[in-house]
Amino acid sequence: MLLCGAVMSGIAAQPPAKKQLVAHRGASAYAPEHTLEAYTLAIEQGADFVEQDLAVTKDGMLVCIHDLTLDRTTNVEDVFPTRFVEDKTAASPTRSWLVGDFTLAEIKQLDAGAWFNPKFAGARIPTFQEAIDAVGSRAGLYPELKDPAFYRERGVSPEKLLAGILEKNGLLKQAGSPRVIIQSFDETTVKLLATALPGVPRVWLVDPAAAGRIDSEEKVKQLATWATGLGPNKMIVAARPEIVTWAHAAGLTVTPWTFRSSNTGTFPSVRDEMAKYLYEYGVDAVFTDNPDQFPRK
Ligand code: G3P
Ligand code: CA
Repeated sequence: MLLCGAVMSGIAAQPPAKKQLVAHRGASAYAPEHTLEAYTLAIEQGADFVEQDLAVTKDGMLVCIHDLTLDRTTNVEDVFPTRFVEDKTAASPTRSWLVGDFTLAEIKQLDAGAWFNPKFAGARIPTFQEAIDAVGSRAGLYPELKDPAFYRERGVSPEKLLAGILEKNGLLKQAGSPRVIIQSFDETTVKLLATALPGVPRVWLVDPAAAGRIDSEEKVKQLATWATGLGPNKMIVAARPEIVTWAHAAGLTVTPWTFRSSNTGTFPSVRDEMAKYLYEYGVDAVFTDNPDQFPRK
């Protein structure tokens, strides 16, 4: 049964034979993030994997959206003006429209494209199933469970939902190159998935606040008992490039985030920035908003 069993077996994590391009929220520099338009463009631009951030609707469906709330990327405030929750503890009370407070049918009424550019008006939030169908065999999937602790507190198991849909789609048996790589910032989630889906690679995302978890070879080695890869903020790698060597020695892949033309720091271009990480620091893959700028060799 999914998510049962005590064995937290790992899979042999081999660094990929070639550097891999993960389209971050799709080709999100050019099309509204997490729409089928962004996913399709990412594939046209050569993505090896297309990323889906996943949230759970009120009726238990996995949908592709980065935020816990609908406000930033849809017109929910116009369509459902009274369906907000208010945080009255903040200095200035804030209103939020939580994904988990809306059914899929309601969410499908929302425009998820016009905020980005009027030419994308009418784009919808896809279900994860729709994303799987749209990507098909043209690229891999790279789902991230967002805010799993929030959903667990509501009595929902996003891990079970993810495991169920991957099983239903025949995506658990992965011969050769993986078709699915799972990711989460939530350690509990990665450990649950290690038990439930031991054959599916799983990346633990590391934000700057957690950089201390990977600041020694011994600590990195320990993570390899439940993760198959690390997904560090790119600044963590820049500050301590030896993390890549430590990870590879432990059998872990390294996939930093996020490379975007709108934020290249001191690099002249996002292509130059990605090249530094891939070919000097030696990371295995990158998350980028700009798949067309990926520097293949
Ligand atoms: O999942 C890797 C990267 O996407 C993490 O950042 O906030 O864009 O999901 P975020
Ligand atoms: Ca993500």
